[in-house]
Formats: sequence, C-alpha cells, structure tokens
Amino acid sequence: MDLGGTNFRVCSVTLKGDTTFTIAQSKVAIPRSLMVSDSKSLFSFLAKQIAIFVEEHHSDHFAEDLGHHLHLGFTFSFPVDQKAVNKGFLIRWTKGFDIPDAIGKDVCALLQAEIDLLGLPVTVAALVNDTVGTLMARSYTSPGKTGTLLGAIFGTGTNGAYVERLDRLTKMTKPGADVGEYDKSTGEMVVNTEWGSFDNAMKVLPDTPYDRALDVNSVNPGVQMFEKRVSGMFLGEILRNAVLVLKDNANMFSTATIKADSPLYTAWSLDTSVLSYIESDDTPNYLVTRETIQREMGVSGRISAEEAEAVKILVHAIGKRSARLSAVPIAAIIIATGKLGPKPDSADVEGLNLKDLSLIEQGIAAIKTAVMGQPTAAPIVDAPPPATTGASSTTVEEGDTIDVGVDGSVVEFYPGFEEHVRSALRDVPEFGAAGEKRVRMGIAKDGSGVGAALIALVAYKMANGLV
Ligand code: BGC
Repeated sequence: MDLGGTNFRVCSVTLKGDTTFTIAQSKVAIPRSLMVSDSKSLFSFLAKQIAIFVEEHHSDHFAEDLGHHLHLGFTFSFPVDQKAVNKGFLIRWTKGFDIPDAIGKDVCALLQAEIDLLGLPVTVAALVNDTVGTLMARSYTSPGKTGTLLGAIFGTGTNGAYVERLDRLTKMTKPGADVGEYDKSTGEMVVNTEWGSFDNAMKVLPDTPYDRALDVNSVNPGVQMFEKRVSGMFLGEILRNAVLVLKDNANMFSTATIKADSPLYTAWSLDTSVLSYIESDDTPNYLVTRETIQREMGVSGRISAEEAEAVKILVHAIGKRSARLSAVPIAAIIIATGKLGPKPDSADVEGLNLKDLSLIEQGIAAIKTAVMGQPTAAPIVDAPPPATTGASSTTVEEGDTIDVGVDGSVVEFYPGFEEHVRSALRDVPEFGAAGEKRVRMGIAKDGSGVGAALIALVAYKMANGLV
C-alpha cells in the first residue's frame, strides 16, 4: 500500500516468474479531514481500505488457516527514522498532513494494530519510501545493462534516494550512533536523502513574497523549503499568491467579477494542472489561459489578453524555477558519487542493478533467481516499455549512461519540465553538454507500489530463513 501523495493506493503484485508482473490496484483520494486528524482515524481508515481490497482480491486468505498471511509492503512517503525493514519512527509530516500524535511513533506498529483489530490476514513486512521503491522498480525496467543510481519523485512532494558506499555514511559509524540492524555484506546502502528539506535555513534558495506567504500559511512553516519551491502541492499556491498581489496592487481583473468564495480567494485551491494548462496554451489572445482563469480561479466577466499574458508569464516562471531547482540535487548526487569521472568504473558506486545478480544484496539476488526466473531486461509490469526521455541518450555509450528513475505528476505531466532540468544540468560546470547527455531519465510508473512489493517479498524470505 502506498500513502504519501494525494491518493491512497492498495495493490497486489503477482510475480509471474519471468520478470513480468501483473498488478491489481484500488485508489482512493485521501479525505482532507483525515490529513489533519489523529493517528487512530487515519490508520483505521487505511486498514479499512486494505480490508475492502483483500476481500475483493484475496478472499481465499480469509479461510480458516490464518497462518497464511499476506505480506504487506508499506510505502509511507514521509521522513522516518528507520530502524529495521519494518520499523520506522515518524520524524515529521509533510505535504499538508498534520497529525501531531503520530510523531515519534512507529508507523508500521500503528498500521498493524488497526489491521489486527479488523482481524485481517495481513502482516506489515516492510516500510519503504516512494523514492526507494522508484529506484528498485527502475533498476529492473531500465533498458540495457546499466545500474540505476537514483530514484526521484517530482509529484505532490519531492525527494530522492540513491546508492551510497557504506564507508561514506559517517552517520552509521559515529560512536554511540543508534542506527539499528543493517546488512553490511554489499558495502553499499540505499540512502533516502529527504532533499525536500534541503536548505531550510534559506542560505541559497530563491525567495519571494509569494513563497513566504505560502510558508507562513502552511502546516509546517520553516521546513520542506526546497519542496515548497518545487513540487506539485505548492506550485498552484505560489501562483495564487502572486495573482492576488497583482490584483490588489496592479488592478488585475478590474473589469471582472470575483465572488468571495472563489478559488482565487481560497488557500490551496489551485492544482498544478492549472499551471500545466496555461503553460501549454498557444492559442491566439491566450484563449485557453483566459478560460482556465475563469474556470479554475472563479474569475468571471471580462479578462483582457494582457491580464492573461501576465498570468502566463508568472506560470512560466514558477514552472521553470521548479524544474531548474530539481536539477540541483540530481547534479549533486551524480557529482558526489563520482559518476562523472572519466571512466565509468572510476565511479564510487555502481548503482542498483537488479539485472546483474552479482551487484545486489544477497537476499534480493536469491529471490530474483528463485521467484522471478533468470534475469532479463524485460519490463517488470504489464505496461509499455518504460519511457526513456533522454533527448540524446542514443549517442551515449551504454557504459557512460547514468540512469535515473523518476516518478510523479510534475515530471510526468508538466509541459517542458524535463527540458528545463536538462538545460540546468548543462549549466552546472561539472556537467556541461557532454555530462548532461549521459543522464538518462526514465519514468518508473507506479514504481513505489512495485518496489514496495519486491522489498516486502525479500523481507519475508529473509525473516523466514528462505534466503
Ligand atoms: C517526503 C518524502 C517523499 C516525498 C515524495 C516528501 O514530502 O518527505 O519522504 O519521498 O515527499 O513523495
């Protein structure tokens, strides 16, 4: 199951034994009231959704032998202090969630308690961040032999997870560090960077009155400052704040009518899709932009072409800034892991390669061989081959490719997003045009669900001495 964006999803993944999967899934929008409630209300809602799903898709598991449990991968996309594969204590909420009594609690235990109250045959086997799931899924689906370095989400929120050498993780080796149990055999670890909270001190991030208004009115002022300039939950609100200032100070919409309860006057009411419509508008006199302003902001009556043009300029600036900022952590991780070195094998880490069994953690290797058959480059889901968007990747040799798995509504749907990311990468001195060409970005659609299922499977096998 997947909690962390606008929707809550439950899915069951069937491994077909030949590296392909089928997925059955159900999706519900999370009621806003639950996002700011108490942990009992949220987790009992989640458990009920699991119950509905299990009854529909796995009713056989309700049969008398309850020892036959389903093993659940729990994608929980918020910052946690993870102590074991199925244990993690919530550090803080993000993306509009605000449930104070859950802070500091083990979210797997909270969920398991509600599952048990309903008597469901389900065990929470693994706790997974969506970026880690994306990295896992992409490392199966990426074309060719190259391992995947980074899994990144640009959706409701933003974050990235990458493969790092254990000996560089000083946090793990500090005297007295309470880091829990972890496997040291590969010498590598997947790191969830939580880059959404980079530069909370605002030393380098751009700042405008519209960003400041958003932050002050958010449920978590002063944190997730990078995310608040980049991800889908926030772009509409930045636009709304800027349009309001133009309205009040520059007579914007002076010939139109705006009701008191219109979306323009309602905080958090503008979805990022509003910016997408306007960004892609190439109609004469900004017809689509004007219609979008009327429909989505609740501005009726006459809107001039100049007013529409002003809104379009704002939209373009907000989207472009988001994309160019997104390039920064991608570039930083590629540079820091030595991936831009002259020879590919000079890199510090190979990246996660679930196609090359020698490079991955023993448990996953065993599962891959035992359950999924011999590894091939075939796609893992019943879906078209993964999109590879790298404009010029065909001219880059396989060994030089730096593979990045991405997911989320902004990177998938925002017009021109990837091109702005690429243009910003070219501006990073260490990259230039040659370095940028080496980056291959591919959508790992629904990777968080597939990745969580894979990790749950490995966790189950390892816990039961099957690997
Ligand atoms: C969370 C991350 C998550 C990201 C993308 C952020 O708000 O802190 O854990 O990976 O959103 O969903």
